Amino acid sequence: MSRLMLGVLASGRGSNLQAILDAIRHGQLRAEVGVVISNHKEAEALARARSLPIPDVFIDPSLYASRSDYDAALVQVLKAHQVELVVLAGYMRLLTPALIGPYRNRIINIHPSLLPAFPGLHAQAQALAYGVKVSGCTVHFVDEEVDHGPIVAQTAVPVLEGDTEESLSARILEQEHRLFPCMLQLYADGKLRIEGRKVSIHE
Ligand code: GRF
Repeated sequence: MSRLMLGVLASGRGSNLQAILDAIRHGQLRAEVGVVISNHKEAEALARARSLPIPDVFIDPSLYASRSDYDAALVQVLKAHQVELVVLAGYMRLLTPALIGPYRNRIINIHPSLLPAFPGLHAQAQALAYGVKVSGCTVHFVDEEVDHGPIVAQTAVPVLEGDTEESLSARILEQEHRLFPCMLQLYADGKLRIEGRKVSIHE
């Protein structure tokens, strides 16, 4: 049986990419990372790919007149690597229809809050500032709005007395690393069905 081909987009550290690679290595995720793409040349995520080696591609935003042109270039790279599912793992750029169109319902993201609470940047700091007692992470399909598409799964994490942005982020990240590979495996098994905003899991 052929393995699901993933294309990972990451702007930074790449710990979620690493969790995905580890899950593949341990046989917990039957998929393959065909390419890792970043908008930052120095992204640690690219170095992680390079060391394996998995093709790593830096696409320089300064070379494109618009976000849409940039995304069209991205799609070319994804297609060249036969990518079936686009995985956003800390990818810090807004997507345009030039990418969302060709990969509709085939782009998946992880966000460090319980959406729809605290979309956008610094979700953990937003949660602390608001004073919530529970936060967490959300895996969701991507649509045209930021951190908005149909929710696949969420893990709740307590917010503790004295938490800082760092301590809460670390507690959430631990759960991100568990949840994301599991949900990718469900996708690989064809078990996720999207109807409107709802995602159901079929055996
Ligand atoms: C994670 O917290 C993820 O939820 C968010 O960006 C962060 C990326 O971390 N979208 P890493 O690059 O995977 O370590």
